[in-house]
Amino acid sequence: MATREATWNYRDRFTDDFARTYFRSFDDCVVSSIGVGTYLGDPTDEADEAYHEAIVEALESGINVVDTAINYRCQRSERVVGEAIGDAAVDREELLVATKGGFLPFDGSRPGNAGRYIKEEFIDSGLVDPDDLVSGQHCIAPGFLDTQLDWSLSNLGVDTIDLYYVHNPETQLQTNSREEVYDQLEAAFTRLEERAAAGDINHYGVATWDALRVRKDQGQHLALPDIVERARAASDAAGTTATHLRAIQLPFNVFMADAFTVESHETPEGEKSALWFANDAGLDVFTSASIMQGRLADEMPGEVEARLDGDTRAQRAINFARSAPGVTSSLVGMGSPDHVGENVAAGTHEPMGSQAFDTVFE
Ligand SMILES: NC(=O)c1ccc[n+]([C@@H]2O[C@H](COP(=O)([O-])OP(=O)(O)OC[C@H]3O[C@@H](n4cnc5c(N)ncnc54)[C@H](OP(=O)(O)O)[C@@H]3O)[C@@H](O)[C@H]2O)c1
Repeated sequence: MATREATWNYRDRFTDDFARTYFRSFDDCVVSSIGVGTYLGDPTDEADEAYHEAIVEALESGINVVDTAINYRCQRSERVVGEAIGDAAVDREELLVATKGGFLPFDGSRPGNAGRYIKEEFIDSGLVDPDDLVSGQHCIAPGFLDTQLDWSLSNLGVDTIDLYYVHNPETQLQTNSREEVYDQLEAAFTRLEERAAAGDINHYGVATWDALRVRKDQGQHLALPDIVERARAASDAAGTTATHLRAIQLPFNVFMADAFTVESHETPEGEKSALWFANDAGLDVFTSASIMQGRLADEMPGEVEARLDGDTRAQRAINFARSAPGVTSSLVGMGSPDHVGENVAAGTHEPMGSQAFDTVFE
């Protein structure tokens, strides 16, 4: 598990290499404002080798946040993260290791007949109740998440997962009402509170694609106030002293800035953006798709680019994401070792100040 002492030691080793506010607080720990993501790429040995090299290099050069999910690359991403953590010249306690559960994972490769695989491995085996399965691939029932968490602990080779996300809960809205999904989340959170009390996870969160950044009238919307309320109820039900809900993850980049601009979360001061609400509620924000899955390395509106520090366009894109108010760390997928040095070096440049960030949207 990431500890205060070890993450501060990590920071002390690297802080002189980076600009102001590169390291940021996460609970009582400090983490890098750039994290390694592991979503994209094929489920192949070649991609595993490249990820391994990239993650080791990242961890050894100032990135102590690594993000994965059990379904990424058919569980290969989790497994390669675990190997890289073991092989890198860093202590496990120096690292924030985050993963997610919710999508039914394949095992090493995509089966020829995915539907049959899911039926045999998950339904017939009793791991998933067909009534809880949405879109043939998504389930957040507590019993299923329990199993998934156990698999993730094993894949990652760690005793404790620092941050465990319920993955894209808005998928459940395809067949369930919003109120039903909040009920499901409360049940999932209750189990995660219990797993936190048992020491298997340290915090949990929700990782989303649309839910938190779309307008309230859109079908995929989930409201942060309800999520926070359900986490408090879960903590009460599980008998934990305080909720372990700690973070949200959502896409944020130059082309997808809705988490800052769309005000869809109710507060006593009116409706506010996801970033505003999270900051106010003490939730850490991790941005996904921080360089829009590579596109921002090629193109960016000139007027935005001109305001950002960085030697390359990818660095400027990363610096946009990690400049947004309330963002703890911007995740960048790095399956190619060639990208690591450039991406880490984004942190040698100053992020935008909050006023400068605001003016981008005027
Ligand atoms: N709903 C969710 O929970 C969710 C959704 C999406 C993502 N995520 C998380 O967020 C992380 C980041 O998002 P993402 O990976 O989808 O997108 P991203 O970070 O915006 O982009 C990753 C892509 O950009 C390329 N890239 C990286 N550095 C580059 C550079 N310096 N120059 C040019 N291209 C570069 C990568 O190539 P290489 O791989 O070849 O290095 C990869 O193809 C994911 O890896 C995942 O951990 C979560």
